[in-house]
Amino acid sequence: MSDLKKIKEEFLSKLRGNLNLSEINQIKSDLFGKNGLISLQFKKIGTIAEAERKKFASNLNILKVELQELINSKINEIEINEINEKLEKEKIDITLPERSFVRGKIHPVSQTIDEISSIFSEIGFSVEEGPDVENEYNNFTALNTPDNHPARDMHDTFYLDQNKEKLLRTHTSPVQIRTMLKSKPPFKIIAPGRTYRSDSDQTHSPMFHQVEGLHIDKNINMSHLKGCLNYFIKEFFEVDKIKMRFRPSHFPFTEPSAEVDIGYKIKDGKIVIGEGDKWLEILGCGMVHPNVLKNVKVDPEKYQGYAFGIGIDRLAMLKYGINDLRSFFECDYRWLNHFGFDPLDVPTNYRGLSR
Ligand code: PHE
Repeated sequence: MSDLKKIKEEFLSKLRGNLNLSEINQIKSDLFGKNGLISLQFKKIGTIAEAERKKFASNLNILKVELQELINSKINEIEINEINEKLEKEKIDITLPERSFVRGKIHPVSQTIDEISSIFSEIGFSVEEGPDVENEYNNFTALNTPDNHPARDMHDTFYLDQNKEKLLRTHTSPVQIRTMLKSKPPFKIIAPGRTYRSDSDQTHSPMFHQVEGLHIDKNINMSHLKGCLNYFIKEFFEVDKIKMRFRPSHFPFTEPSAEVDIGYKIKDGKIVIGEGDKWLEILGCGMVHPNVLKNVKVDPEKYQGYAFGIGIDRLAMLKYGINDLRSFFECDYRWLNHFGFDPLDVPTNYRGLSR
């Protein structure tokens, strides 16, 4: 048998075995390496007799190409097998049951703010915001509450500096000032947010929530205020009929001023809104004082309107039967789980607010 034939036979028999990548690479270098069988054959060409030489060289070339192709396809085959083996081993079982996870709840105060915003947006109010850290001017002076005015003491203010220039806003009313300073009348806004007073018991918390309302236009009068609050309370408590009473009051920034109570009764341990002869105060309101309008460069001869400030936490307590205000801010997970709302259940007036 010729050398070339022998080389080929041997090679083919090796190739039939179960080879891995390093074994096939070894075979490759045994053939084509510096002293490999094929390389040695090439070196032999010069020693072959003239008559045979051409034929031998051509056969050798054919064999070289053939063996190279066989080796490459074997390498390819081995690599594919290795990948498949790996894939087989690393299979992920996607049928495993999900791990139990805990979904968060929307805090009743956040839910109530969303409900309030939704109700007022239906009648053309837009939402404004102001910062919790206010200056003394926006919180008091611009609101017709000058230095030494007794109303300042009633607010139990948290001041942030010795000069009493920076403070934590004691109500959302400074947003009235900010809103009116930055654009021109008419104004029709609500401003929900956090407010602060140094006070703490079952119905008072040092941080609490209010929503301010402000409607300034030509020819706005107290009946608009009454109609607006009447609509709001009915929508908020989701009842057809309510009892509401305006009690004369005093705020430096409104004239006349009133506090609004709603009528309720307790039936089977639950609060029923709109019936009975008990009264609950829920907000302060009035016609915006001309001095406030002057302070923000609005002409009180041309424009007037009403403002109100509603205690949000109180409304939430009433609507959702929560009896201690402090529980709102204790971050008790069990409490949140019980009183919280589904995150995907966004309140709208059409679908129902609190379902
Ligand atoms: N800012 C007042 C308070 O916190 C409430 C209020 C707002 C009264 C707007 C009248 C008009 O007590």
